[in-house]
Amino acid sequence: MRTTVKMTSATRAHSLLLLVASTAAWGVAQDAGQFPADFLFGVATASYQIEGAWNEGGKGENIFDHMFHTTPNLTTDGTNGDVACDSYHKYETDIELAKNMSVDVYRLSIAWARILPTGDINNINQEGIDYYNNVIDGLLANDIEPVITMFHWDLPQKLQDIGGWPNPRLADYFVEYARVLYENYGDRVKWWQTFNEPASFVAGYSGNTAIAPAINSSGVGDYMAAYTLLKAHAAAYRLYDEQYRATQQGKVGITINVMWYEPATDAQADVDAAERKNQFYAGLYGHPIFTSEGDYPAVVKQRVAENSQAEGYPRSRLIEFTPEEVEYIKGTADFFGLNHYTSYPTTEGVSGSNPSMDLDAGAVAGDYTDYPLAASSWLRSVPWGFRKTLNWLVQQYPGYPIFVMENGWSDTGELDDQGRIDYYGAYLAEMLNAMNEDGVPVIGYTAWSLLDNFEWGTGFTTRFGLHYVDITDPDRKRTPKASSRFLEEIFRTKTLPAKYMR
Ligand code: NOJ
Repeated sequence: MRTTVKMTSATRAHSLLLLVASTAAWGVAQDAGQFPADFLFGVATASYQIEGAWNEGGKGENIFDHMFHTTPNLTTDGTNGDVACDSYHKYETDIELAKNMSVDVYRLSIAWARILPTGDINNINQEGIDYYNNVIDGLLANDIEPVITMFHWDLPQKLQDIGGWPNPRLADYFVEYARVLYENYGDRVKWWQTFNEPASFVAGYSGNTAIAPAINSSGVGDYMAAYTLLKAHAAAYRLYDEQYRATQQGKVGITINVMWYEPATDAQADVDAAERKNQFYAGLYGHPIFTSEGDYPAVVKQRVAENSQAEGYPRSRLIEFTPEEVEYIKGTADFFGLNHYTSYPTTEGVSGSNPSMDLDAGAVAGDYTDYPLAASSWLRSVPWGFRKTLNWLVQQYPGYPIFVMENGWSDTGELDDQGRIDYYGAYLAEMLNAMNEDGVPVIGYTAWSLLDNFEWGTGFTTRFGLHYVDITDPDRKRTPKASSRFLEEIFRTKTLPAKYMR
């Protein structure tokens, strides 16, 4: 797909003028980009990355508390989420910062262990319930709608002690936790996502050393975790559908990260490899929920089964769904929550340990070295990949509105963060092109992130915030960056300035 330029008569006249006025005008002038009046703009955060107060207010230990306390110095700068941005105590300030950005919505996650310290409902922590009541009420008092993630990776440690996500019983615990959330917050919360980025937290069972529980069961335990979370998601959706939707009238979805894997060449082998990578990475979670046939993508089932057999396993390392399970999971979403950051040129080839999801996918992701690099080594600004991602989603999963739950850029904490402004300008333009030129139904967008927060393995060395957070200050002072002003205007006017349109 090529980026096309929409020519209205106004643009035509405008571009003619420009051409006449300047001999250097090679491009075609653009109108400002318009978002629909009811488009939902906002900012996003996650509990472990901002709250701190890891052992306050009756909260139980989670798997990141456990991992960072038992294995110190796992992160680049030796930090952890014990205090983070101290949002547990400073949530009112944070609501004010969001308000100052003219947001419609605020995406936050609930720390399971703050509500259920041991993960189970035999012990419901009222102080935890109250904390999020205060946050939700504070948002609504400021005309900001809460968008809630039930699980942004911080599993109660007690549930890891019984195996964590590879244990299929976790689906039962999750649905009971979901029930507590609907019961307590569903009168005011209308946007729910069950999980944030399954592929990322499943990596905690693939040997990723900075994602808890950092267990290396690559190619086995990670597929088991995927199986459980898909069933947990479906159960939480069905619970809402059957018992809460009629009275609460909200929407339930799941947020899946889709990095874009683009064929590095036109060779069919690379085209197929890139598609496989997209299917192993995003389709593994999206296909069972959002396609009319349901189940894992056929190419995933086939390759894992073949590899498993060749490796001498008595069954596929992928836990296959029964026909009843396929039916149970299919169609369990009201919208597709999308996290998108970057793209990779992809070729056919061998990468990853044996066994692993990467090896099963049989593709190698390269690096677009000509594109701007963020402070995070995995992140380059490749705006056209966003448009391709959105189009791929519509083609794969027709009929679902898309809510972009994360998109953002890391640096090392500059206040005059032009790199972040450039990234947002370019990515928002491609999103608008996808909406207006290609008809992709994007309904909302929350930027990652309101604050410089604890960025997992890289601690505070890579910062995604629209506000700088001084982590040497006990008060964790916040300072707006230039990008917060930039986005504020876009959010308020629902307009992307013409100079960013492409
Ligand atoms: C996705 C994750 O959901 C979030 O926790 C993380 O901070 C951002 N990506 C940036 O890496």
